[in-house]
Amino acid sequence: MQLKNDLLLRAAKGEAVERTPVWLMRQAGRILPEYRAVRESLSGFKELVETPELAAEVTIQPVDILDVDAAIIFSDILVVPEAMGCTYEMIEKRGPIFPNTIRTEADVKKLRVADPHEHLHYVLDAIKVTKKALNGRVPLIGFAGAPWTILAYMVEGSGSKTFSNARGLLYTNPKMAHQLLRMITDTTIAYLQAQVEAGANLIQVFDSWAGILSPTQYREFALPYISEICDAIRNVPVTVFAKGAFFALEDFSKLNCETIGLDWNMEINAARQQVGPNKTLQGNMDPCLLYSSFDTIQHETIKMLKEFGPQRHIANLGHGVYPDTDPEKVKCFIQTVKEYGGAVKG
Ligand code: CP3
Repeated sequence: MQLKNDLLLRAAKGEAVERTPVWLMRQAGRILPEYRAVRESLSGFKELVETPELAAEVTIQPVDILDVDAAIIFSDILVVPEAMGCTYEMIEKRGPIFPNTIRTEADVKKLRVADPHEHLHYVLDAIKVTKKALNGRVPLIGFAGAPWTILAYMVEGSGSKTFSNARGLLYTNPKMAHQLLRMITDTTIAYLQAQVEAGANLIQVFDSWAGILSPTQYREFALPYISEICDAIRNVPVTVFAKGAFFALEDFSKLNCETIGLDWNMEINAARQQVGPNKTLQGNMDPCLLYSSFDTIQHETIKMLKEFGPQRHIANLGHGVYPDTDPEKVKCFIQTVKEYGGAVKG
């Protein structure tokens, strides 16, 4: 189906755009009362993720309410470990936990490389239902966690400030770490390919815990697997967002992907130098800007747009929007991007 608004895809591919496209990481849910209403009528987060009609409904909410240029399928990066046999629980106000962590080679042996059609069919169905309901209004982004970030949760068993168990494993049993990364990568490639078949128009890989590795470790335990994923997804544009990986920007320039996500610690001009001219950059406003006044949001957003320039940029935050952000402030950020682009054009 022809998309009515394909700004995101054109910007990703480096084609000319009349204005910068804008969406927000973690735009679905959390900040919207409309999301919380759906969520509170259910047994929990997982019921929402696993019910395609409901996942589609909350995927489309930010398109209707915030007027973003893309939808991102409502799911979680943690559905991948679950499909591999390592189930998670989402604890209210605390986040995810894995009752059975992966710490030994025997634990790895119990896992499987998942078949997306068998073990993740609910995400694929949610994509199909969403595409139909979107009716070509905006592109739909599919996603997965990068292998290192997924390993970090499986080994640690929950979120953590240090992820010391996961990082420790890279020293104590690098062979096991690679075995596990191999299985996660194979699962992720099949899963992302299935998302594209189901209708995803662009794929984003989230390496949320990239920044806690040393550059050397990142090159050994993270980059090669991300690179494989990029090589395997060739019929839609791919975005790699590795939070905190300022040290890897030059490596990212060699990836077979279209867009590199930047967090707010990264300097825009320096990042452009390191990534080179042939990739689109996405980001990178500090989510805390949205706690400030409407005037400050407008001013800082325009400053960011000027620094990135009008082409090869997808406006976004430098990480997911925080749950306690006022949706009116989010709308201000989005409208500022849209109106600034309009001003340049006309
Ligand atoms: O972006 C979107 O709007 C689409 C949905 C989406 C969710 N999680 C829904 C969700 C996406 C893209 C994710 C990705 C994700 N999940 C990441 C990578 C991006 C990042 O923020 O770094 C990570 C690390 C996770 C793991 C995860 N899921 C955590 C740590 C938590 C708890 C804390 C939190 O961020 O809310 C979740 C829960 C989660 N995933 C919620 C939502 C809407 C909130 C749970 C709820 O509604 O009860």
